[in-house]
Amino acid sequence: MTDFEDLLAFVERETTFATSYYDDAYLDRRVSARMRRRDADTYAEYLDVLREDPDERAELLDTLSVNVTQFFRDRKVWAALEDVLVETADDQSSVSIWSAACADGREPYSLAMLALDAGLPPRDVDILATDIDEDALDRARQGFYQSTRTADIREQLGFLDDPMAYVEQRGDGGFVVADHVKDLVTFERHDLITDDPKSGFDLVCCRNVCIYIDKQYKRPILDTVSASLRPGGHLVLGQTETLPSGVKERFEAADPRIRIYRRLPEA
Ligand SMILES: C[S@@+](CC[C@H](N)C(=O)[O-])C[C@H]1O[C@@H](n2cnc3c(N)ncnc32)[C@H](O)[C@@H]1O
Repeated sequence: MTDFEDLLAFVERETTFATSYYDDAYLDRRVSARMRRRDADTYAEYLDVLREDPDERAELLDTLSVNVTQFFRDRKVWAALEDVLVETADDQSSVSIWSAACADGREPYSLAMLALDAGLPPRDVDILATDIDEDALDRARQGFYQSTRTADIREQLGFLDDPMAYVEQRGDGGFVVADHVKDLVTFERHDLITDDPKSGFDLVCCRNVCIYIDKQYKRPILDTVSASLRPGGHLVLGQTETLPSGVKERFEAADPRIRIYRRLPEA
C-alpha cells in the first residue's frame, strides 16, 4: 500500500467519508490543500497529524465533502427549466421533482421559488431533495444562508424579479427561506450509488456530483436517476457533465447546450 492509500484507508475508517467513491486526482487535490495548511510535507507526516488531532480529521472531512452550490447556479439552465415546469404543469395536474445531491438545499429551494414564480399552485408542486451528507441536509432543513467573501446570496437570488417574496432577511445579513417555500421541499438522505432508484419523477436534477465521483460509479448514479424518471420526464445534469453511452440511448436531448434531456417513452 502506498502512503496515499494508507491515508485514504484511515480516513475511510475514522470518518464517515467514503473515499472509495471519489476520483484519486480530486482526493489528492483536497488532501494536499490540508497538508499545506498543516505544514506536512508527506502523506505519512499528514497521517500522523490526522491520528493525533481530531480537529484536523473534522477539517479534512469538511474539505473533502464538496457541498459547493448556489441559488440558481448556471442561470441559463433556470430560464429553460421554467419552461419545463410550466409545460409539465399544463399537461398534468401536478409536478414532482427530485433534486438528487442537493447539498445545503439551495438547488431544491431554487426549484421551489421558480415553480412559485412561474405561477404553479403550491399544492401541485412536490420536491424531494436528497444528499449523502447528513450535515448538509441539516443545513438545508434550516434554510439559512449568509453571504461569504465568494458568494453573494442577494446576487444569487437576483435571478428572480422579487426575491424577497421567497426569503426573509435577518439582521445579521443572512437570509432565511420563507416557510411557504420550505413547505414544498422534503429532505431525506439517499446515496445515489448504493440506494434504490425512486420512480415516476417529472424532473430530476443531478448536477455537479458526477464530476467528483470515480469513473466506475458514474454509471450506477445515472442508472439510478434515469430509472427514477417517468417516460417523457426531464433530466438535468451539471454544465460540464455528459451522459455515458448505455444511458444516453434512453434519452433525447431536450436542450443539449444546457444539458437537459428527455427520457424516451420506451426506455
Ligand atoms: C457540488 S455539490 C452539488 C450540489 C447541487 N446539485 C449543485 O449543482 O449546485 C455535490 C453534492 O453531492 C453529494 N454527494 C456526493 N456523493 C453522493 C452520493 N453517492 N449520493 C448522493 N449525494 C452525493 C455531496 O454530499 C454534495 O452535497
